Amino acid sequence: MKPSSNIFRENSEKKQEKWIVMTNMGRLAPLLLPSICITLFFTGFFVYQNPFKSIADENVLSFIPQIDPECDLFKGHWVPDKRGSLYTNSSCSTIPDSKNCIKHGRQDRDFLFWRWKPDGCNLPRFNPKAFLGMVRGKKMSFIGDSVARNHMESLLCLLSMEETPRDIYKDEEDRNRIWYFPNHDFTLSTSWTKFLVEGRERQDGNKKGTGLFDLDIGKIDEVWFKGLSNIDIAIVSAAHWFFRPIFIHRGDESVGCIYCNEPNVTQISPEEGFKLVYSAVFKHIDECENCKEDLVTVLRTISPAHFENGTWDTGGSCSRTSPFGENQIDLRISEMKIRTSQIEQLENVIMKRDNKAKEKFAVLDVTRVMLMRPDGHPNGYWGNKWMKGYNDCVHWCLPGPIDAWNEFLMAIIRQLR
Ligand SMILES: *[C@@H]1O[C@H](CO)[C@@H](O)[C@H](O)[C@H]1NC(C)=O
Ligand SMILES: *[C@@H]1O[C@H](CO)[C@@H](O)[C@H](O)[C@H]1NC(C)=O
Ligand SMILES: *[C@@H]1O[C@H](CO)[C@@H](O)[C@H](O)[C@H]1NC(C)=O
Repeated sequence: MKPSSNIFRENSEKKQEKWIVMTNMGRLAPLLLPSICITLFFTGFFVYQNPFKSIADENVLSFIPQIDPECDLFKGHWVPDKRGSLYTNSSCSTIPDSKNCIKHGRQDRDFLFWRWKPDGCNLPRFNPKAFLGMVRGKKMSFIGDSVARNHMESLLCLLSMEETPRDIYKDEEDRNRIWYFPNHDFTLSTSWTKFLVEGRERQDGNKKGTGLFDLDIGKIDEVWFKGLSNIDIAIVSAAHWFFRPIFIHRGDESVGCIYCNEPNVTQISPEEGFKLVYSAVFKHIDECENCKEDLVTVLRTISPAHFENGTWDTGGSCSRTSPFGENQIDLRISEMKIRTSQIEQLENVIMKRDNKAKEKFAVLDVTRVMLMRPDGHPNGYWGNKWMKGYNDCVHWCLPGPIDAWNEFLMAIIRQLR
């Protein structure tokens, strides 16, 4: 089977942005059966008492109502909200061009006027002052691919309504970036990793990438992992590079391959691949010796793409202008299976440990929430200089529904208190 497509952006060596062919789960997904309510075993919101005992600004907590810990924040639907976004493309100066949909001519605005309503409670609106108060003196890092970056960029815009961040570090390829909020001594960073574990692209005779990757689940990607020792809150995600031919190894042992047709290699499903990688990653984090004792790890589950009428390279697009209702989404699609697999790996780590481990992990379960937002992507409005005519239905417009991820994050941190 040919790996299907999806798009993902990477900076080439010449620092030009180019689009990398990625696989699209759509083509490989099991037949899309009518949506039947599947029972997800998950508890969804792993919030446990504590770690942040020492946060400075006690009074900020009064700005954020406490949420019933029994409420599953991620089960609900989108409801109209006249208030719209906290920021615009003029009030936030750090929106990257490729997410600045309105600048690039997006005309409809309805997509900005929705808020997420959990069935059993209310998700408090993002409050930059309270958020910064809660994370005073802390270091937060978004670890993963360009959707992790997209999430960080949303948080940066939301927080910049309260305090202008200082851009204190950027690497050559602008993959790793650090922002600092001096008034709150808060550090926000992104740490780029495609696979979380060690991964390499195979090269052909001319040292060109072949599009085939080798992952070693016995080794963590040290580029982000060595920085983890400094971090208080790590938001871990990575998914969009997995939909391509990947050979998985554990040291010298070959475990199998995703999306390849090699005679002597065991074929494994993408869900199985995610399972192998994420169980290795959580184990590494759980056993991290140099990490802070209070490190909180948040798993942000896979973010769905919304190509319709084709894949990214066959004219697929995402031109809807309003959300789907709960009965319009198909919970059987492969993203939901991957999400469940990601959460299970985290649960396994927690279950093997004493209760203390529970304080260290949380889930930011965006998959189902975002399946309902086919209207939130840049589509053609991303200033696509390098790949004209292609649509981005993977990343999310800023402002846009991705801003809700930070409302979840605020609620999670609030509950960790
Ligand atoms: C913001 O969007 C408007 C279109 O509504 C556009 O004209 C303007 O250039 C954008 N500004 C920035 C700073 O991106
Ligand atoms: C596959 O395995 C067979 C039998 O073990 C062997 O003869 C053959 O060379 C192998 N092929 C590859 C491509 O490794
Ligand atoms: C897909 O194609 C159909 C038929 O041409 C069209 O009505 C629909 O609007 C398209 N959907 C999207 C999201 O572009």
